[in-house]
Amino acid sequence: MTKQAEKTPIAILISGRGSNMTALLEACAKPDYPARVVLVLSNRPEAPGLEIARQYGVPTEVIDHKLYGRDRESHEKAIDHCIRESGATLICLAGYMRVLTPYLVRQWSGRMLNIHPSLLPAFPGLHTHEAALQAGVKEHGCTIHLVTDGVDEGPILAQARVPVRTDDNADRLAHRVLEQEHRLYPEVLAQFIEKKKESL
Ligand code: GRF
Repeated sequence: MTKQAEKTPIAILISGRGSNMTALLEACAKPDYPARVVLVLSNRPEAPGLEIARQYGVPTEVIDHKLYGRDRESHEKAIDHCIRESGATLICLAGYMRVLTPYLVRQWSGRMLNIHPSLLPAFPGLHTHEAALQAGVKEHGCTIHLVTDGVDEGPILAQARVPVRTDDNADRLAHRVLEQEHRLYPEVLAQFIEKKKESL
């Protein structure tokens, strides 16, 4: 059993439904898992994932990007402050739908993970399942990577693949990729922590 105090404190950033966040919360609830969630933060007050996090008894915060207009850096400074206050030493982006500026990326360099629903470097950005179907690829999937300045460009930690079926549509494909996301993110986070523990 990993003592609570020995678990790495993490913050999860979301913007929406939070199914990857839920997969991480489930993993963190296990006695032997090496992380604990100390904060779930959303840039959108109406994100359904916030209520789920509350049900897990995790502190939640909203830092609404709309209140900052075009000043992305001030928004990120508020986020950074909140995360540091929480005691988190690692950030997991889980459906956080804002492009980050170099400010936050550099503050958390090597300590911020993201999950992306494609086999990067294929299909960065939005609408990845539609793009994969359009391109006619035989395999699609998801990627966990470290966050760097370029969008969806950081070093890849792991990928999971799913075959694309001839009768697939974007919803069916998204569903099968999501199942892999929920398996992969907790697994890779645990491996990452075990490897980097001393520097976190
Ligand atoms: C996931 O497909 C994730 O890969 C992407 O955004 C989606 C978020 O879904 N970054 P959820 O909020 O985790 O359910």
